[in-house]
Amino acid sequence: MNLIIKNGTLVTPEGRVKADLGIKGEKIVAIGANLKHGDAEVIDAKGMYVMPGAIDVHVHLQLPFCGTVSADDFVNGTKAAACGGVTTVIDFAIQKKGGSLIQAVQDRQAEAAGKVCVDYALHAVPTDWNDRTAGEMVDLVEEGHTTFKMFMIYAKSGMMSDDGALLAALELSARTGAMIGVHAESNSALDLLIDRFHTPELMKKFGAYAHTLSRPNFTEWEAVQRAITWADVTGGKLYIVHSSTGETADLIAEARADGIRAYAETCPQYLLLDDSVFLRDDGHLYGTCPQIKSKEDSERLWEGLDYGDISTVATDTCTFTTTQKAMWEGDFTKIPFGLPGVETMLPLMYSYGVGKKRITLEKMVQVCSTNPAKLMGMYPEKGSLAINSDADIVIFDPKVKKVLTYTDLQTNCDFSPFEGFKLTGYPHITIARGKVVGKEGKFVGTVGHGKWLKRHIGEDI
Ligand code: URP
Ligand code: ZN
Ligand code: ZN
Repeated sequence: MNLIIKNGTLVTPEGRVKADLGIKGEKIVAIGANLKHGDAEVIDAKGMYVMPGAIDVHVHLQLPFCGTVSADDFVNGTKAAACGGVTTVIDFAIQKKGGSLIQAVQDRQAEAAGKVCVDYALHAVPTDWNDRTAGEMVDLVEEGHTTFKMFMIYAKSGMMSDDGALLAALELSARTGAMIGVHAESNSALDLLIDRFHTPELMKKFGAYAHTLSRPNFTEWEAVQRAITWADVTGGKLYIVHSSTGETADLIAEARADGIRAYAETCPQYLLLDDSVFLRDDGHLYGTCPQIKSKEDSERLWEGLDYGDISTVATDTCTFTTTQKAMWEGDFTKIPFGLPGVETMLPLMYSYGVGKKRITLEKMVQVCSTNPAKLMGMYPEKGSLAINSDADIVIFDPKVKKVLTYTDLQTNCDFSPFEGFKLTGYPHITIARGKVVGKEGKFVGTVGHGKWLKRHIGEDI
């Protein structure tokens, strides 16, 4: 062993145990009481939780979007992950219209190569449905890209998949075992409603709040319902990304009770913020799709995590600075949509989930690490504290108290949607495949340490 974590409390979804944990190279090789350390480096984790590193399965690093490019690139975005206790991220490779999906994946891998500081994978995003795309999806699954993401919106930017494409992709999911992630919002209903508010008078009157007014809850749950129907009739495996409404939690709960293979993810912004943010002078900074909903929605989403209707928490990190957000110039349709988040997910989930007794510590580990690993085909290499699992570990200090402010963070963002949130608990040390990469919120790893993960078919959970 070359590294031993002593005196900590190991936490998994199954429970807590006081034990030492030994690491050799990239792997966990020993778990037990009073492990002999010899000349191994020792980290004293007395009073701390030792957990599998968090897995953020939804980040958009250096994404060209809304007329600009998201401000955290592969280097800085994965440094931010390491600072926040996240040891694996999944980004996206978006097919160009008329182009090859495999090529999109290879191009994105080339962009990330040598830059990532923690391990990463890619969801391939088909945007041009035809026989070639379907064939490429099968090849990608064989090569270890076992999840896909499809957009039910963004028709105008050429990224939308229609119902036929969704149905066919879920058939392919049933055949191959791949999982189909879906951004579920109703494109044409949204176009109609956005147009109604897109007048000089109403934009002047409502400002960024028009983003909320033009996106009532039904624009999400109508699409969720439709996607569930395609999962039902095909037997495919569906994963609703960034669920923002209480109704989505209800629909997923019903579908799962009916034996449909439907899963849902939510994000800290939907759990911790409400749509009053759009009434602020800087309300446009919070613009993201789907937009932040009501307090009642947040409560139902917390309940969904607790009950198991919602399986994962991810961040949908898509960082835009205040200068980039200023491109909106008073027009809510021109806000660069997206928020930073990978770095603050775990401390927020601990402080406002575990700390406020909305979920247990074990549940936090389950939804931030173990479930993502299982669903996305990375378990037990990731998301687990077991012999032979990757030594991806966060040593979490529950005693640290601080107030969240963007100036303390690694992200390139010059604001945080969670500015001023009081935190109790913060990652003390982050270990990625055996190497210490984060210490007290600062990056101490090596650029290029992260590698692409070949994944297997995910589990049904
Ligand atoms: O507004 C968002 N969420 N931007 C990122 C792209 C997406 O839809 O996930
Ligand atoms: Zn999306
Ligand atoms: Zn996204």
